[in-house]
Amino acid sequence: MSEIVGYIGKKNALPILIEKMKQMSFKEYDSSGILVLSDNKAILVKVVGRLENLEKKLKNKKIEGNIGLGHLRWASVGRVITKNAHPHFDCKKEIFLVHSGMIENHKELRRQLIKEGHILSSETDSELICHLIENYFQGNLEEAVKKTIQKIRGAYAFVVVSRKDPQKIVAVKFSSPLFFGKVKDGILIASDKSIFTKFKPIETKDGEIIVFRRDKFHILKERINFQSENLDKGIYPHFMLKEIFEEPEIIENVIRGRVILEKGMVKFGGLDALKEKLKKINNLILIGCGSSFYAAKFGEILLQEYAKINARSEIASEFRYLDPFLNKSTAVISISQSGESTDTLAVLKKMKEKGMMTIGITNVISSSQAKETDAGIYLRAGTEIAVASTKTFLSQLITLVMLTIYFGRQRSMDLKTSKRILQELIKTSNFIREILNRRSEIEKLAKKYQEFKNFYVLGMKYNFPIALEGALKLKEVSYLHAEGICGGELKHGPIALIDKNFLTIAICPSDSVYDKMKSNLQEIKKGNGLVIAIATQGNREIQKLADDVFYIPKTLEILTPILTVIPLQLLSYYFAVLLKREIDKPRNLVKSVIEK
Ligand code: F6R
Repeated sequence: MSEIVGYIGKKNALPILIEKMKQMSFKEYDSSGILVLSDNKAILVKVVGRLENLEKKLKNKKIEGNIGLGHLRWASVGRVITKNAHPHFDCKKEIFLVHSGMIENHKELRRQLIKEGHILSSETDSELICHLIENYFQGNLEEAVKKTIQKIRGAYAFVVVSRKDPQKIVAVKFSSPLFFGKVKDGILIASDKSIFTKFKPIETKDGEIIVFRRDKFHILKERINFQSENLDKGIYPHFMLKEIFEEPEIIENVIRGRVILEKGMVKFGGLDALKEKLKKINNLILIGCGSSFYAAKFGEILLQEYAKINARSEIASEFRYLDPFLNKSTAVISISQSGESTDTLAVLKKMKEKGMMTIGITNVISSSQAKETDAGIYLRAGTEIAVASTKTFLSQLITLVMLTIYFGRQRSMDLKTSKRILQELIKTSNFIREILNRRSEIEKLAKKYQEFKNFYVLGMKYNFPIALEGALKLKEVSYLHAEGICGGELKHGPIALIDKNFLTIAICPSDSVYDKMKSNLQEIKKGNGLVIAIATQGNREIQKLADDVFYIPKTLEILTPILTVIPLQLLSYYFAVLLKREIDKPRNLVKSVIEK
């Protein structure tokens, strides 16, 4: 996350900004910049690298003015180059802005602004906010900001000034930290509260537009009612298919600005404040319902094995009625795409009452979960319209791989391991594109097996949660009876159901449990059962054990779930199409399970 600072007052802004930027410079950043306004003149200086580079560039320059903005950039959208450093400006260099966070709909906005004839000078999402403000500006900056925030989606805090509406600074935030407070002879606005040394700062609330003048401020409350998102199906017949096709881009969104590859580290802006406390945590409880619970299960396996932390997953709808023994040094990770599931919120409340630290993973920034938790990670999956979760589930998996690295690197995970996982994780978006390009293979399989009524989805280890998720998708979207089973359990009972009318979808990538899965398939064949295998490219042997094979690209064993879930989502979709189901709104289901 980038850091922002603004000053308005009687003093010269530049030394105050530099002093405050120095106080924040222990955090990760790759470039910096300042803007000082005096009368109608704007002086802008930006550099790549350490703050000392900025100071060098400012040396011997006479920069005076009582209004200023400062920024330490940690690149998310756009490379580390000078023109991408903040402050950014509009076409006429009248509006200047510093931003922290990420604007999710930046691609759509960029296209729109270029079409309207705006001249964009950077590759960033942040600059787009300046041009939107420019569109709405009619002499009053806060009025333009008011309209602008209805057009942007994401987590953000920004501070803006205009030469055409001088003597004021306007600031607003949504789900990103922003504070302001008095300093000697002026007001300071910043993303980091620790820089307010003398007076306790005020925390800005989501949607509050604050107008600062030299010695006073006033707040305009604005409901953010984001509307510009493209919520039609576009070229797709159903939202579910559209959302599956968005998955490669979502992976890129989830990773963007959070991976420090050379250090093998992951940075979650939302966890920054708890970083030191999290180092001391010995136990994690991951909670969720339905698909979110399956993601939690995947997280549990990963965190145990790679972060060497005592993690366990719990079904929230069950856990809320239990009274388990809980260790004090425990953090609860609440996973909910909607952030509104009553059961998950109930567990969260109970855990908070017991004094546990709480972290939320959600797709809805303003959700109840986001408000209830001590810290949070945002899924960045965009609005999911189809009731059955697809892209949000994938985003949960990616987030949990990254969280494992976050906790792992705080503990014993070495650089080589984390770097290798991250390097491979980055490749998964293209691997998914490859799978989606072969969707007709899945469509054919759905046609071939459309008469079948009963299914097992088999998976082991990291792919056991995916077997559960695959079976849930078949149930909820295609209304087919499906059970997710871990491979080793087949012989403990379920195999009794196998006959020529029973289809097993076996997740068997070439991994550490492949041989075990192979022997399961041999048993199914003995019972005349039919098998679709999801296997790793290059595995010819599997063709002898399965009736059909869908190949996925080769990746690290722990990342295979990110790929194996895609054919399962597509298969349930195509079955549902053939069976004429209400795909986006399956019967008896709602998007957020809220108990009144
Ligand atoms: C399945 C699905 C549900 C949800 C569950 C929890 O496709 O979407 O199983 O995962 O209802 O919902 P959230 O994640 O909103 O708490």
